[in-house]
Amino acid sequence: MDLKSEIKKLAREKDAVILAHNYQIDDIQEIADFTGDSLGLSIEASKVKNRLIVFCGVHFMAETAYILSPNKKVLLPEKDAGCPMADMVTAEGLRKMKEKYPGVPVVCYVNSSAEVKAESDICCTSANAINIVKSIDSDRVIFVPDMNLGHYVSRFVDKEIILWEGFCPIHRRLTAKEVVGLKEQYHDAVFVCHPECSPDVVDMADHVCSTSGFYTYIKKSDRKRFIIGTEKGVLYRLKLENPDKEFILAYDTFQCKNMKKITLNSLYESLLKEQHQVTVPEEIRIKAYGSIQRMLEVPRNF
Ligand code: 13P
Ligand code: SF4
Repeated sequence: MDLKSEIKKLAREKDAVILAHNYQIDDIQEIADFTGDSLGLSIEASKVKNRLIVFCGVHFMAETAYILSPNKKVLLPEKDAGCPMADMVTAEGLRKMKEKYPGVPVVCYVNSSAEVKAESDICCTSANAINIVKSIDSDRVIFVPDMNLGHYVSRFVDKEIILWEGFCPIHRRLTAKEVVGLKEQYHDAVFVCHPECSPDVVDMADHVCSTSGFYTYIKKSDRKRFIIGTEKGVLYRLKLENPDKEFILAYDTFQCKNMKKITLNSLYESLLKEQHQVTVPEEIRIKAYGSIQRMLEVPRNF
């Protein structure tokens, strides 16, 4: 039996569900029970009936799954798969910021630790950030840690957004100059990007959305060529669903090395040995749960 079939068999025997983010390697997306963006995966994790959740993504995503489903065993096949942006804000740093702006509500991007979520009023993802900020009854909000997503949201809301200066190094690497060059080279192409890109890149986009938003937007479009302004993992499903369309990755190495740490082997090992469990101390989990649960009550933008 090949490794993919072994994993599926083992998952059935162990009553495990495999959840995978849209940036995972193709082989993992192929065998996952559910693939999605951070919001879709959180919703799925909150509904899981299985005993085990094997989360193929990065640490904050597995942590969010545990926060929502604490009675499940949550495994992250590569224990060091983290998110550098999530590491740019700590609970202590956020407490200091709150002291500087007393009473101002805190919105935290789901790309953050459980401790940071516990210090926040509400979470958001790239798929619902605009609606989340709009839902807050205050004309000022603190937004952590992604300054680019926060800046993107500020274009749509009539509120002051106090930004934390975090960013995704992978999305920030794409420059406006490169996009200009690509648009010249592929003048008939539609440029779609993730809101983690810099504001000057976002300015040039025909559409801005979460990773799953790429699938819905591109499937519906009658255009044939697309410049992809996010991590290359989305190409797997884009190509499957749109065999007649052409995709140009905005830069060759648009890859998150943390997202790419998980392999079929590490997934198999983790499932077999039930290793690399992710948990959160109960006191923090309860507070973080409140921030995530409030988020899930607000509809997504895209
Ligand atoms: P999505 O929630 O849009 O999938 O984004 C997660 C992420 O980490 C993007 O870099
Ligand atoms: Fe974090 Fe960026 Fe990787 Fe997304 S792509 S997980 S934001 S480092």
